[in-house]
Amino acid sequence: MPKNASSVGPAVRLSRYTKADQEEILGTIDDPFGVAWTGLSWLPKEEHFGIRYDGRLVAHAGLLRLPVGIGGIETEVVGVGGVAVAPGMQGQGLARLVLTAALKHARTMGPQHALLFCRAPLVSLYQRLGWHLLDKDVLVEQPGGRLTTMPLRTMVTPLRDDVRWPSGPVRLFSLPM
Ligand SMILES: CC(C)(COP(=O)(O)OP(=O)(O)OC[C@H]1O[C@@H](n2cnc3c(N)ncnc32)[C@H](O)[C@@H]1OP(=O)(O)O)[C@@H](O)C(=O)NCCC(=O)NCCS
Repeated sequence: MPKNASSVGPAVRLSRYTKADQEEILGTIDDPFGVAWTGLSWLPKEEHFGIRYDGRLVAHAGLLRLPVGIGGIETEVVGVGGVAVAPGMQGQGLARLVLTAALKHARTMGPQHALLFCRAPLVSLYQRLGWHLLDKDVLVEQPGGRLTTMPLRTMVTPLRDDVRWPSGPVRLFSLPM
């Protein structure tokens, strides 16, 4: 089936996002996000955005609010995770489309910044989408309240025009997303 823009639907909010939905996008391969080596436990996302192609879910981005400490100030960020595009549909701008819809919604959620974790090879992709590398260690919680340093790259993007990421050490008061 030829891929063309007319068959790709708009990025929409999804009422739910299950394991089966994720498998519809990425298939049933082990470790589709390539992060199993971290050994980390992750939070599920609470709000979901997706794109369908001929009725099939082909892209997703998830959001949730997370408590965070930045330089001793306790605040919240919008965590972004589960960003996925079906292997046969990658490289056509679908991650850009679904993230644009998710971040439009994130701007209504309250926090001033969004934050995501990604593998090093994806840093340039997210920079292209307007995200900035947070070039410092970020502490995250793990089961039992154990603190660990996030081994993935941390990226942030402002959700308002007039805000800058504060200086100082960063830690999530939750599992990562
Ligand atoms: C990562 C992933 C979501 C990207 O999806 P995609 O639909 O191929 O991305 P897009 O086509 O929207 O590309 C986004 C932008 O990054 C650019 N880009 C793509 N690969 C890039 C790279 N290696 N370096 C720099 N920029 C890159 C694209 O040109 C595009 O920019 P443009 O819109 O200005 O042209 C997809 O490869 C995927 O699902 N991978 C498996 C799951 C995963 O690892 N998810 C990431 C979790 S953090």
